[in-house]
Amino acid sequence: MNQSAKGSDQAHPSEVIYQVYPSSFNDANADGHGDIPGITQKLDYIKSLGVDSIWISPMYLSPPGPDGDGGYAVSDYRQIDPRYGTMQDFKDLLKEAHARGLRVYTDWVVAHTANDHEWFEKSQKNDPKYKDYYVWADPKEWNGQDAPPNNWKSVFGGPAWTYDQDRKQYYLHHFLKSQPALNLNKREVQDAVLDEMKFWLDMGVDGFRIDALPFATCDEKLRDNSWLYGTWPNVNEAWDQQRFDHSIIQPETVAFIGRIRELMDSYPEKKTTIGEATAGVEGGRNPLPVASRYTDAKKGLDMSYTWIVNELSPQTGPYGVAEIIRTIEKFFPDGGHCLSIGCHDIPRTFSRIAASVPPAQQLAAQKMMMKLFFTLPGSVILYQGEELALDQARIPQDIPIDKLKDPTAQTQGLGAVRDGSRTPMPWDSTKPNAGFSPSNDPYLPVPASHVKKAVDLQEKDPNSMLNFVRDLIAWRKQQPALENSKATILRESGPLLAYLRKNDKQTLLCAFNMSGQSTSFKPEDLLDDNTIKELGLTKGQTVTLGAYGSFLKGEPPQRQTAAPSPKPPPKNPPVIRKAS
Ligand code: NOJ
Repeated sequence: MNQSAKGSDQAHPSEVIYQVYPSSFNDANADGHGDIPGITQKLDYIKSLGVDSIWISPMYLSPPGPDGDGGYAVSDYRQIDPRYGTMQDFKDLLKEAHARGLRVYTDWVVAHTANDHEWFEKSQKNDPKYKDYYVWADPKEWNGQDAPPNNWKSVFGGPAWTYDQDRKQYYLHHFLKSQPALNLNKREVQDAVLDEMKFWLDMGVDGFRIDALPFATCDEKLRDNSWLYGTWPNVNEAWDQQRFDHSIIQPETVAFIGRIRELMDSYPEKKTTIGEATAGVEGGRNPLPVASRYTDAKKGLDMSYTWIVNELSPQTGPYGVAEIIRTIEKFFPDGGHCLSIGCHDIPRTFSRIAASVPPAQQLAAQKMMMKLFFTLPGSVILYQGEELALDQARIPQDIPIDKLKDPTAQTQGLGAVRDGSRTPMPWDSTKPNAGFSPSNDPYLPVPASHVKKAVDLQEKDPNSMLNFVRDLIAWRKQQPALENSKATILRESGPLLAYLRKNDKQTLLCAFNMSGQSTSFKPEDLLDDNTIKELGLTKGQTVTLGAYGSFLKGEPPQRQTAAPSPKPPPKNPPVIRKAS
């Protein structure tokens, strides 16, 4: 539950957010492409998970094909792409979600537009109003030839610069060349972007997941980055070989975030911001120091989300997980971190976990890891299909090469392709394309292994991952210690990871066996006498955890049950007020 939205004095919310990738969620008009009415049809399912909110990946007008980067190249921020439906469809979705008490966050692609956006087309033509909306620079001479203005690289490979024949200059793009970087160092460009955001906030969206925040501003002098290993040109010229002294992660982004916050605060109801901050200074590694700069309680975002847990598996072991917890505690001492369980950019969680665990124990290991994720400090984003333990679709066995959609297939090769985690949601094992769409040409094929994990089958199985995740989220909501307390590590050796989550409302012991053999502990091995008593444990008792088992102990305080209301519930959804 969003504590700040409830009116407590907690600065950063504690939320469970469900990520929908609209192209592959549910196809309502049978054209093979997921759409907004398809999401609306599945709101009861989303609600049944117990999440607080939905983040919908971009559904704005975007170029067709690879240039659109799955919607992350926006041609017009105020239009819904016809592939996803109409503006009315979106308004209906908003209304229906609110009627179910679900908050709706749209994706805000802040750092770049598409190259067919009106702003870019005018900028190319040196239109006085738009000429500096993007980052333009003259060629630099290199060995007697024209070369890009500096050594910055694109995340998707090659230089971060493309020469424009009209303007006779290079423009900056941190991703595809169809995604020119907005010049957010300029106040007037910030104003224009804030105005576009306002359009959606006024319509009633509850906030944004803000894309690629570390890429929002760059060094105005366009100085070269230094190389992490060796000196150019004697190094592999890839993005992650540089230290990002100048290209990204600039202090101006923090000031711009302050302006985003002012906009959010100008609304009487709570508007939420979740910044994607997955890149660190050293070739993208170690994102937390950067992510934490964006969440100042008064001037920053509600949350920054990182991929820090997306490498965790039982193989990481207790010490590896404890290190991650210490890093979160160090950089987010007052909360504001949001972890993501999977997403549309990285491989599926279940395949990572399964890789180090024998088949018979894989479901147990997955469940243990889910409990771990949901008891770590911070909010949680759950990506569609992770609640079904979907495995990564394989190329070409599950997705033939000619069906691939992800543009990185062209720039970075098959190893980097993200389609493996973007295949359709399997809703019904008895229907074509597992109920995602009746079309003969679905967005991507549904892997055979996913049909066996379809929602209809998991609904009927009390031991399924789906029912497990529902119970886990319901349980999490009853644990005040998980809303805002520190995690204190008690044990990080052998197979056992144990930590305490404690605040003035609750003490909660979280213990995990990260191995395939059972293990045990005695309370006094981990806890002092008072805590043992508080938790209702007994000194000398043996607590045994089976293979990949866990032990969560801590009585939540009795919640007040509301007195039955004599009146019927209001027809309009409740307006969620901000914390004072
Ligand atoms: C992060 C998004 O999640 C990813 O899908 C996209 O390609 C880049 N940002 C560029 O917008």
